[in-house]
Amino acid sequence: MAPGRRQPRKVRHAGLRTGPVDPAEPPHGPPGVAAAPASSPQVSLPPYPDCWFLVAASDEVRPGKVVNRRLADEDVVLYRTASGRLRAVRPYCPHLGAHLGYGGTVRGENLVCPFHHFQFDPQGACVRTGYGTAPPRARLGRREHREIDGLVFVWRHARGLPPSWEVEVPPVADFPTSHRRVRTLAVHP
Ligand code: FES
Repeated sequence: MAPGRRQPRKVRHAGLRTGPVDPAEPPHGPPGVAAAPASSPQVSLPPYPDCWFLVAASDEVRPGKVVNRRLADEDVVLYRTASGRLRAVRPYCPHLGAHLGYGGTVRGENLVCPFHHFQFDPQGACVRTGYGTAPPRARLGRREHREIDGLVFVWRHARGLPPSWEVEVPPVADFPTSHRRVRTLAVHP
């Protein structure tokens, strides 16, 4: 470095470390902010919060339709029965694991697997097989969901715990009719 030029100052914020710390190094940081002691615990946040996630608008899941959505590194399959009941289920068929979001169909009140055409009722129970044999005691894994004011929310908890709170229903009576605009942005792969 040329004589007289100032050395760039390294700044490390209290409690936020990006690499190994030399224990002999004196603490430093922004003026007035004490550096975290070497023994302070590192906070590691889970990658996704445990909460309700908005996954679809109601009109995207019309009766008879199956929709696949991505939620926190997992797929969630939404479908609506002929009578209008919305369901959210885990994506894989309990028979041999076909993905219900790709080729799954709704027949009446049942979701039909695209592989061997096993049918599952709105409670997730297998009620028919594609071979005409007695249905096994297999069940679809259901996801907790709520449909509120034209929006579909699915609960997600890292340890699979049930919902600990509910989505509040806002007072919308005095508001104009809502509308939705979807934009797809090209981002980094
Ligand atoms: S994998 Fe779904 S019915 Fe066989």
